[in-house]
Amino acid sequence: MAEQDKTSRRGFLAAAAAGSVLAASGAHAQGAGARAADKAITELPDWSKYLGDGVADRPYGKPSKFEAHVVRRDVEWLTASRQSSVNFTPLHELDGIITPSGLCFERHHGGIAEIDPRQYRLMINGLVDKELVFTIEDLKRFPRINRVHFLECAANSGMEWRGSQLNGCQFTHGMVHNVMYTGVPLKHLLNEAGVRTNARWVMAEGADSSGMNRSIPLAKALDDCIVAFRMNGEMLRPEQGYPVRLVVPGWEGNMWVKWLRRLEVTDMAHLAREETSKYTDLMADGRSRRFTFVMDCKSVVTNPSPQAPLLAKGQNVLSGLAWSGRGTIRRVDVTLDGGRNWREARIDGPVLNQSLTRFYVDFDWQGQEMMIQSRAHDSTGYVQPTKDELRKVRGVNNIYHNNGIQTWLVRSNGETENVEIA
Ligand code: MTE
Ligand code: CO
Repeated sequence: MAEQDKTSRRGFLAAAAAGSVLAASGAHAQGAGARAADKAITELPDWSKYLGDGVADRPYGKPSKFEAHVVRRDVEWLTASRQSSVNFTPLHELDGIITPSGLCFERHHGGIAEIDPRQYRLMINGLVDKELVFTIEDLKRFPRINRVHFLECAANSGMEWRGSQLNGCQFTHGMVHNVMYTGVPLKHLLNEAGVRTNARWVMAEGADSSGMNRSIPLAKALDDCIVAFRMNGEMLRPEQGYPVRLVVPGWEGNMWVKWLRRLEVTDMAHLAREETSKYTDLMADGRSRRFTFVMDCKSVVTNPSPQAPLLAKGQNVLSGLAWSGRGTIRRVDVTLDGGRNWREARIDGPVLNQSLTRFYVDFDWQGQEMMIQSRAHDSTGYVQPTKDELRKVRGVNNIYHNNGIQTWLVRSNGETENVEIA
């Protein structure tokens, strides 16, 4: 945590030293006087004088070296080991709705399995007429589909139950990513195997050293689950389950089993570790609620946010993300004054089912302190609750499924902090 504090403050001070903080009076260009003194305008830079790298030098493209700060980050004290750990998507550095593959947060229980695709097999067994084993090439001969979906870990914003502890939307909300998957609808594979009439569940099991497994209700498996092998057009990244992962649209990330090796059709839930001891919701009365599968409607302002302070007075763009496991985003409201006044955000880009959706508020800032919040509405009519509304039902000892409204305090110098409104 100290580390992120330093990072954001350092970034802010560097920007201040460059003279950009609060210097400009609007989003518009500098005046003529400033221009005459600006060597970036009056002198020819090296990149205009010399030949650049040739095409053979970069067979697989990478971001500009000037974007080296745009990376997944972890919080060291959160987990005891590197292999059973998590890092976070830098939401405040991104725009649009697609998460670049190399920036998708990672959550592993036993490290990243390195699977040779030629040795890869997917087995279907249990309550089926024929047990089947598929290779990657077998999977690629089934009719395939493309779908953009968010994956959110149930523990995303989990540290927020007890108040604001992590200063950055990367850390409070970065256990979410949104990519286009290509794969085979799970129902095609199940139909091929022939599901018995007493079947109710499908247990999905990973090939990593944790052998992580989860039970998926058969109705969901036959509805919209995808056995995916590509993300954003290319094969899945090792971190995301190469060569095959299960996509469970709108449902908690833990069920999206990576390095998928087996699907066992059963008549009851497996009651695996991850659906009993973990990923259950400890309620205010001390009882545990299990099988909270759907990720409810949620949103967050990504800019400004603690790692992305406001840099200039005048015209500014507030930006954020909204999503719902139950459908599409219908509307997002934003307040700049802690909930006294709300305005409707401008949604731009595709509004897809169970996908991140991008919103903006174009606003004028004259250095006043702001309490920024966003509140999303989904296509079922559900409205994102406040954290206090959630705490009334769930108490504060919970970890999972926190979809409460987030507050950022923007100070008069543009610095931004994670706070809660009492
Ligand atoms: N699948 C396997 N086999 N092993 C794992 O550790 N982690 C789960 C899920 N699938 C996990 C897994 C959890 S808790 C989440 S939130 C998502 O994968 C994370 O997916 P990502 O690493 O692509 O972000
Ligand atoms: Co998770």
